[in-house]
Amino acid sequence: MAKPIIRIRNLTVGYNFPLLDRINLEIQPGEIVAIVGISGLGKTTLLRTIAGVIPKLSGQIVGDIRARGGIGYIPQRLGLVRHASVYHNVELGARCGVKVRTDSGNLLDWSKRKSVVIRDCVAQVGLSDKIDEPIRRLSGGQQRRVATARTIAQKPQLILADEFLSELDKENADSIISLMKNYVNENQCAMLLVEHHIERAEQIADRIIDLSEFEIKSPAEA
Ligand SMILES: Nc1ncnc2c1ncn2[C@@H]1O[C@H](COP(=O)(O)OP(=O)(O)O)[C@@H](O)[C@H]1O
Ligand SMILES: [Mg+2]
Repeated sequence: MAKPIIRIRNLTVGYNFPLLDRINLEIQPGEIVAIVGISGLGKTTLLRTIAGVIPKLSGQIVGDIRARGGIGYIPQRLGLVRHASVYHNVELGARCGVKVRTDSGNLLDWSKRKSVVIRDCVAQVGLSDKIDEPIRRLSGGQQRRVATARTIAQKPQLILADEFLSELDKENADSIISLMKNYVNENQCAMLLVEHHIERAEQIADRIIDLSEFEIKSPAEA
């Protein structure tokens, strides 16, 4: 079997108190894993820990994705720049990924190629006609498409997505799901997503993990 994209060993996550304990998880190239569990369990905390936004409490996260900026994180609130255009939001993702791949070219080449990549990613999510619109004028579903394009433009090895299918009607969700599946398969990268909608989790993921088995119970509950 190929080397896993990420290997999580005995990981404990939380803030000044632990929430989830001794998580073990490996994700292989080309694999999509969904995590489910009730609200307040620590799903977002786990993604933020893997993304390196907050420190882990203990355990190991092994894989060389972080060093290369290979993690594409789609936070629950998307983190888009509301007054900036679709193009400029997608460009925020493209900046690191594209530059690395075109080191041999000159700056003019690089900037032209970057523009081609951005336009292609925007086209893939079906928003070419909105490319110059500011984010604040888009619907919730369209904003999720922009966040998807921004992540694809980054060419990450691991995509972390926090409930990114919410607010999408079935048609939109289906098209984003097939886009992400193709992307992960073609690039042999991996995806870890939080999805409380179990049918959608089953539709997108190869494997579903119920995080409640790692929940830290208070002595009264245990
Ligand atoms: N920055 C923070 N500092 C302290 N506690 C937090 C912080 N963010 C979230 N929490 C708490 O951690 C728990 C898990 O939150 P979260 O990971 O967002 O859950 P989920 O995504 O599963 O709904 C909640 O009880 C929440 O109040
Ligand atoms: Mg959450």
